[in-house]
Formats: sequence, C-alpha cells, structure tokens
Amino acid sequence: MRIGVPKETADGERRVALVPEVVRKLSGAGHEVVIEAGAGEQALLPDALYTDAGATIGDPYGADVVVRVAVPSEDEIGKLRDGQILIGFLAPLTKPDLKDRLRGAGVQALAMESIPRISRAQSMDALSSQANVGGYKAALLGAEHSTRFYPMLMTAAGTIPPAKVLVLGAGVAGLQALATARRLGAQTTGYDVRPEVAEQVQSLGAKWLDLGIEAAGEGGYARELTDEEKAQQQQALTDAIKTFDVVITTALVPGRPAPKLVTAEAVEGMKPGSVIVDLAGEAGGNCELTEPGQIVVKHDVTIVSPLNLPATMPEHASALYARNVQSLLELIAGENGDADLNFDDEIIAGACITKETT
Ligand code: NAI
Repeated sequence: MRIGVPKETADGERRVALVPEVVRKLSGAGHEVVIEAGAGEQALLPDALYTDAGATIGDPYGADVVVRVAVPSEDEIGKLRDGQILIGFLAPLTKPDLKDRLRGAGVQALAMESIPRISRAQSMDALSSQANVGGYKAALLGAEHSTRFYPMLMTAAGTIPPAKVLVLGAGVAGLQALATARRLGAQTTGYDVRPEVAEQVQSLGAKWLDLGIEAAGEGGYARELTDEEKAQQQQALTDAIKTFDVVITTALVPGRPAPKLVTAEAVEGMKPGSVIVDLAGEAGGNCELTEPGQIVVKHDVTIVSPLNLPATMPEHASALYARNVQSLLELIAGENGDADLNFDDEIIAGACITKETT
C-alpha cells in the first residue's frame, strides 16, 4: 500500500508519524512511503534520512493511507479523499465534530486513542507510549521549578532531606513520573482510585497513599466519583498534600472533565516554594488553580500546566509513536499488502471512528 506522511501543522507539534527506521521496515515489506518535504525536520530527521530509508518526498495526500500525529486542520481535512484511510490521534471523545467531518468526507479514520487496551494491541498503544514521555517530563519539570533539591544531600555544610513527591493518578504517565522522580532521589508516594495499582506503585519504591475511596470502572479505567466521594477525596487530599514539596497530577477518566483533586485551599496549605505539575490541563486540570498551558504562582506555589509534553521530546516520542503506527499498518495490510480494513477484528472495529454504526 501507499503510505503518506504529512508535516504536522498544529501549534508546537514537533513529532512526526513515521521515522526513517520504521520507513525502512515498511519499504522492505513492499510498501511505498511518501513523506511531505520537511515532515521530520522538527524531530531532527531531515528528508535525506527518509530517502535513504526508501521513502520518496512528495504529496502525502495521494496515498492510500495517511498517517499523522495530531488532529488535522480544516485545510488538511480538505485534502483527504473519499475512501482514504487516515490514522492519527483524532480526539474522538473531545472533538466529536471532527469525526463527523471525516465521515462526511468519506474518510475511514482510525483513532490511535480508540485502539482497545488489550494484550494483542499493546504494540499499537500510542496513548501509553506518549504518556510515558509525559510522565518522565513531568517529574523533570517538578524538579526544575522546585526551589529544593530532589535527592538527599549530605555535605560538609549540613544535610538536606530529600524532596517529597506525590503523584495523583497512577496510570502510565503517573507511574513513569514516580519512577523518574525516584531515580532523581526524591521520596515518592502514589495515589489512585484503582486499588489494583497499589502494587505497581510500591514496586517502583514509592509509598501508597490510601484514602479509602475505590472507583475501578470498565476496561481497566477508573469511573467518575459520585459528588459525595469527590468531596471526601478533596478533603482527604487537602490534608495529605501539605506535607509534599512537589505534586504531579495525571488523573483522568476518558472523555470526562479532569477530576478536581487539588483545591485552592489545598494549594494555600502547601509550603511556599512547592510545585504542582498538572498534566490534565487539556481536560481542565486536576488543580482548581491551574491555568492550562501556563505557569502561574499562587500562594507562593508554582503551578505548571504543560499541554503537549511529548512534542517537547520529538525524537524519542516520534520513534515510539512510529512503532505503534507500524504495528497498526501491518494489521491493516491485507494478504497482498493492500490496505484492507477487516471490521471483524476488534482492534480495527474499535479504532475506526467513522463507521456508520459508531
Ligand atoms: P491513564 O488512563 O493511564 O491514567 C489515568 C489515571 O488516573 C488512572 O490510573 C485512573 O485510575 C486515575 N484516576 C481517574 N480518576 C481519578 C481520581 N478521581 N482520583 C485519582 N485517580 C484517578 O492515563 P495516562 O495515559 O497516564 O494519562 C494521564 C493524564 O495525563 C491524561 O489526562 C493525559 O491526557 C495526560 N497527559 C498529558 C500530557 C501533557 O503533555 N500534558 C502528556 C501525557 C499524558
């Protein structure tokens, strides 16, 4: 099949959907890859690396399958044609209009976010690969904005105790944040409403904060808390948060506004110089005082809310994403290598957001 890779145009987006290493494998398997000129530039991947790997530089929209990272702009949707397959992060839960637009254009759209989180699809799980980047970077941002050291320092000038880092939401991003903060010497604690992750948190050398509220939902995700549980959780967290130097929040229920875990009162109770890194800014933020995309100081606490951390590490984020896309492309390549969507396959059926039945 013919695979097209456009240059990303979203603000601040530096990733690219395929990297040369993956292009080489796809070309080796008999597929034709067309890269838009400069598509990899922001990820430090010049066109020459792609042509060396077997790609041609040209119009990606002439391909059978267009693969991208971020949602397409209106202009880019206009370039897609009837029957074409589009693969990318397509925000089906938060931008439902886009799904309708793509369906209207006759495009068969496969959203990376909608790939079911089942074992057979693990190699395609781009939410996880990118959340790993986000969690790692969140831990670093906490250290960068903190006025205090992460590790314990024993010096001739005295001993400095290690920073205490609390991570709220122990999914992929949260677990990576815990692992990274611990490697940097912080004392780490994790919290989640899914009790089954306690063991994973502890296996990373972190303490488990048990507030006695359990909310495991379907498909391995949490359910939204009831109003009563939310109030109980906020109160318990307000008390717990006071003792931490850095709080990293990653709590999410797919398609819902981010739960408000850190109240204004909790921020006020933190020590001056403390830091909150709120990864849930795009869904409104886990902290009441978060300003999505901004760094603000409230009650002497720095609140950082980055919106697209994976794009700040475009080289590795693209490499991981490209392998996720490669696995999906291999699944949709029919016996003769042509694009062939088999809707009896639960991965294809789950990922396709433009089928009439969805
Ligand atoms: P995930 O679904 O693996 O983890 C979310 C976790 O939050 C789950 O463990 C869930 O049980 C927990 N949770 C849900 N409601 C909760 C509540 N009320 N209290 C405590 N925990 C609760 O998601 P993942 O992939 O780890 O991503 C987490 C968040 O980070 C998402 O909002 C994602 O969009 C965001 N993210 C943001 C980045 C950025 O650059 N700002 C980069 C990467 C991820």
